[in-house]
Amino acid sequence: MNRTVESGKTLLVDGPASVVATSGRVEVFGFIVGNTSKVVIREGKRLPFVVEETATFDISLGEGANAEEVDGNTVPPSWIRAYEELLNLQTKPVTAMVLGTVDSGKTSFCTYLINKLLREKQKVAILDGDLGQSDIGPPCTIGYAFVTKPVTDLFDLEAENAFFVGVTSPSRAISKAIEGLASLKKEILGNSPDFVIINTDGWVEGEDAVNYKVQLVEELSSDVIFCIQREDELAPLLNVLERFKKVIVDSPSAIRQRSREKRRSLRELGYVKYLRNAKVQSLPLSWLKIEENELIGLSKTRKNIKQARKIYELLGMKPLHFVELQDRICIVIGKRRGISAGNIKKVEEFMKKKVMVIWKGEEEGLLMGLHDAERKFLGIGVLHEIDYMRKIIKILTPVSEKISIVTIGRVKLDKNLKEIPAFAEENL
Ligand SMILES: Nc1ncnc2c1ncn2[C@@H]1O[C@H](COP(=O)(O)OP(=O)(O)O)[C@@H](O)[C@H]1O
Ligand SMILES: [Mg+2]
Repeated sequence: MNRTVESGKTLLVDGPASVVATSGRVEVFGFIVGNTSKVVIREGKRLPFVVEETATFDISLGEGANAEEVDGNTVPPSWIRAYEELLNLQTKPVTAMVLGTVDSGKTSFCTYLINKLLREKQKVAILDGDLGQSDIGPPCTIGYAFVTKPVTDLFDLEAENAFFVGVTSPSRAISKAIEGLASLKKEILGNSPDFVIINTDGWVEGEDAVNYKVQLVEELSSDVIFCIQREDELAPLLNVLERFKKVIVDSPSAIRQRSREKRRSLRELGYVKYLRNAKVQSLPLSWLKIEENELIGLSKTRKNIKQARKIYELLGMKPLHFVELQDRICIVIGKRRGISAGNIKKVEEFMKKKVMVIWKGEEEGLLMGLHDAERKFLGIGVLHEIDYMRKIIKILTPVSEKISIVTIGRVKLDKNLKEIPAFAEENL
């Protein structure tokens, strides 16, 4: 489909779609797209093609996609001012953090700043702290990349390195998220950037969120904090960030809000991307260091044989796996086995700890972060099976390097890489 759009207008395209601006001058988030390059818009995403000089577009729309013209430039003037302010900062390198609620335009704003900085030949890194809507690296990780060419979608960038957090929102892993951001920021600074842009997650409202963001700001010592607001949803956060340099920018009104489901399915595109060509690998549990293991206590072995015998006796069976954790006992039993509530109670009384029963197979689908012996992040995987008899773990992953350290996440995926509720969460 061909379409001509006059200068001074913006063509908004909702994906899945692809667009070539075959003539005229067109900008997408500060990137002057050439007359031959094809711009792909993923499902659930909207891109504004700002027409500087009357342009013709060759548009291919997928299912549910849409293209419409609006007057003016949908990129707010406050973004242009924010960029100028950033460029004028005198420190080297400059670190800028971007705060805003979900769907406020954080990713787009980062993209805009990056593209504009690249036009000034600056060396720019993007550090992506949005776990749930990761642009760089797999979902549930923090990732970074140095950007060498202008982009319309940060998702197209290859992560230089990532840090696996294992949850979709930092509210469940605050210190880990901070640790990841701080360590990757340090790594970026080691590669002498001119600018480091830090994107964050959309959890900004409520006391816990505000506290988390304050910790982030303090830990990551940014030279400027860009706060994207629709109305005044950041007011409580702005109050406590009083002593920091902040620039308030507007959330574009052309943004189309996404539902929680849409955000989840965008995230699932991330699992698909980072698990492409995955194969099942069988690894002896004894070769691995397993982290974040409170759920199943995998690599822990029981030391007290006498005690174990007593427990088997109370249970009236020998489970596949049994481990005493800090706050509870974890028992794994065969898929079709039953266990009586009375016997569980007996064990609980004997051990003075709560018993959690897991049926074999329930661990299947847990998302995992995979690392080498130096703890360098190699990629993600999905727990395929634990063979308790042979003490082998089977992981579905495209990683081909030697895996030494495995971090178990709290997200579970089904065979089609769709998120499903993780087991036992409600029992904890
Ligand atoms: N100025 C704009 N005009 C039209 N669409 C926009 C504009 N800014 C952002 N969008 C679109 O709105 C959606 C939400 O923006 P995004 O940057 O992903 O928000 P966040 O990162 O805060 O969740 C995206 O599909 C994005 O491309
Ligand atoms: Mg985003």
